[in-house]
Amino acid sequence: MIYNFDKIINRKGTCCTKWDSLEERFTRKDLISMWIADMDFKTPDFFTKALVNRIGDGVLGYGCRPNEWYESVIKWFNKRYSWKIKKENIGFVPGIVLGLCHALRCFTKPGDKVLIMPPVYFPFKNQILAAGCKVVNNKLLLVEKKTKKGIVERFEVDWTDFENKIKGCKMFILCNPHNPGGRVWSREELKKMADICLKNKVMVLSDEIHCDLYSKKHIPFATVNSKQALNTITFHAPSKTFNCAGMCASEWITTSKAIKDKFQSYLSAGDFDNAHCLAYYPAMLLYSDKGEEWLSQALSYIDGNIEFVTKFLRENFTIDGKQMVSMILPEASFLVFLNFRNLKMSQKKLVDFIINDSKLALNDGSTFGPGGEGFMRLNVGCPRAVLEKALKQLLVAFKKKFK
Ligand SMILES: Cc1ncc(COP(=O)(O)O)c(C=O)c1O
Repeated sequence: MIYNFDKIINRKGTCCTKWDSLEERFTRKDLISMWIADMDFKTPDFFTKALVNRIGDGVLGYGCRPNEWYESVIKWFNKRYSWKIKKENIGFVPGIVLGLCHALRCFTKPGDKVLIMPPVYFPFKNQILAAGCKVVNNKLLLVEKKTKKGIVERFEVDWTDFENKIKGCKMFILCNPHNPGGRVWSREELKKMADICLKNKVMVLSDEIHCDLYSKKHIPFATVNSKQALNTITFHAPSKTFNCAGMCASEWITTSKAIKDKFQSYLSAGDFDNAHCLAYYPAMLLYSDKGEEWLSQALSYIDGNIEFVTKFLRENFTIDGKQMVSMILPEASFLVFLNFRNLKMSQKKLVDFIINDSKLALNDGSTFGPGGEGFMRLNVGCPRAVLEKALKQLLVAFKKKFK
């Protein structure tokens, strides 16, 4: 089956956050929407057809998690990541942000310190604060690396700062792969993080929602050090992978019986591990050969989009030979962190330039925390023609203002 990712789908008027909340969030409606992390591609239609059939049954009562749901998760992790997990290691939660919210409340007390690596997915900070904990920022370093493709910017861990700041922390929330930096942490980096956390008795919540969107082999954090794995919860979902974020269906995995029992009791007591009656279908249907077939085509389309942005920026956004708008080349997923620092604008002016001059809705880099200033996040999970139109709008605005 060949999927068509070029097809432009009008999502306006479908109660979708990405296109239907532009005015509320960006003060105007006439923008190309490339912010929140869902894609404008059709969710695999073998899956949506199965949902239509299920709805056609006519009874939308309470759902329950069948054994098949667990089997699908087990098979997916074994096949893709050679991680052999068992049914008793797996739990359900209707969303990863909700999972983080509950894990913070279950395993920390107000006042505890929780480390994150900004610039990072902003709900990490918001959830830590909402749980009454203190945020400890281990800011990532922006470095330039020489590669075969030329000089590439990427984020790396500031290890001295990490080792200093982790002392006294109760928890570390890791983004693996990293959003918005697109880093796929290497085995060595993950092992170093795990060793340091183990030494300091720090629990890790590893958010691996973007991990399937990587064409090579992702390494689950919990597989690099079996002792630290006993103080870790991994969160994962089919939502980013298969563009079904609205289904509210995620998994959490731990090899620690103590953590499993404690977290499961907490979730069950509050009825937080229940969802609507369609929520178990994404894992059951999409963690499959058919799902992988769709995914591999989606990944090569996304790679093409990333290459398109790389080339477009390099060829068009220069002044006197200097590249004025660059990007961090993502190793995974469909989010590109654009670097506007050479334009030397305040963040407020940059945001205004993107919205009002370029007519684009992107994520403001500064919302991801320290290190995000001067950046804007571009979602390239869209048909190439839409991406091209967006970059051309940006170029027209750039030429008008800077050339
Ligand atoms: C790192 C990360 N975690 C979690 C989420 C959201 O997950 P959920 O919709 O399951 O709460 C996102 C969405 O962009 C994300 O990038």
